[in-house]
Amino acid sequence: MPSNESLAREILGHGTYLCVRADGGDVRQAGAAIPALAARLGLRSEFEPGETPPIESIAFLRRREAVPGDLADEDVLHANWVIHVASKAAEPVAEFCGEVARLLAPVARIRMLRGLRRPRNYTGAAMNNWAYGHQVVQQPGAAMPNAFLVPMSKTADWWRKDWMERHTYFLPRYDDQGRMVNEGHALVTAAGIPCLLRRTYKHALEPAPAGEYDFVTYFECADADVPTFHEVCAGLRDVRRNPEWQFVREGPTWHGRRVASWEELFAP
Ligand code: HEM
Repeated sequence: MPSNESLAREILGHGTYLCVRADGGDVRQAGAAIPALAARLGLRSEFEPGETPPIESIAFLRRREAVPGDLADEDVLHANWVIHVASKAAEPVAEFCGEVARLLAPVARIRMLRGLRRPRNYTGAAMNNWAYGHQVVQQPGAAMPNAFLVPMSKTADWWRKDWMERHTYFLPRYDDQGRMVNEGHALVTAAGIPCLLRRTYKHALEPAPAGEYDFVTYFECADADVPTFHEVCAGLRDVRRNPEWQFVREGPTWHGRRVASWEELFAP
């Protein structure tokens, strides 16, 4: 049996989505020091990513709507605002999260979805060229205002599989006559490649402990491409087209609007 020791362990970066839910106080006022904190930690806004999207970054997302998933998670489902913080190093993310928790604890509930960026495991040269070579990079918030947060876990049956078997779920499957039996993850999502910005964080532990997610996935797109996002998700969830999803348990899908600053989160 191929050993799962072969899976990539390297850490490329750290990130957290802070899901903030109003709890009776003035959140805007309580968090007034957040922009200065972000500046001190050298976090650049993702709203204006420039030529090369920042690695040390911050993003502010304002709720539009949210839909429950298989896993109940009221704090994500009802989050009014989401803040994303990312860095190559663990310390700035931890410091930012600790400080925001301290500032907002008296007025809000905060659920932190933490993750690591790791190298891809199932992507050889051709998959890299196909699935990532033409992917859209982060665009200004005005061009791609929609943000979708989709945390999820995989079942114990998935984690029992060796990496070679897991790998097979990302490609189409064919019968002995060469007829495609199902599309699998990569082909079923093909329409999203040119229009969805994708980001996936993995939990430090695989599988993640109870109450936390194995994966925190995130997407951005233009208004015109929101239907494509939903089509791509519907394709992934159709287990006849993508058998991988029989092993997936999703948290809520939270849809927000990207805004430029802390203050804009609260604009009327
Ligand atoms: C938009 C087009 C998309 C493409 C082309 C795509 C392609 C891929 C590929 C090639 C991998 C394997 C990465 C590796 O080598 O480790 C992957 C992993 C993953 N994708 Fe997607 N994906 C897309 C959209 C989505 C969406 C919409 C979701 C969730 C709603 C999603 C969730 C995930 C997760 C959780 C993993 C990690 C799975 C694991 O390691 O077990 N992807 N994707």
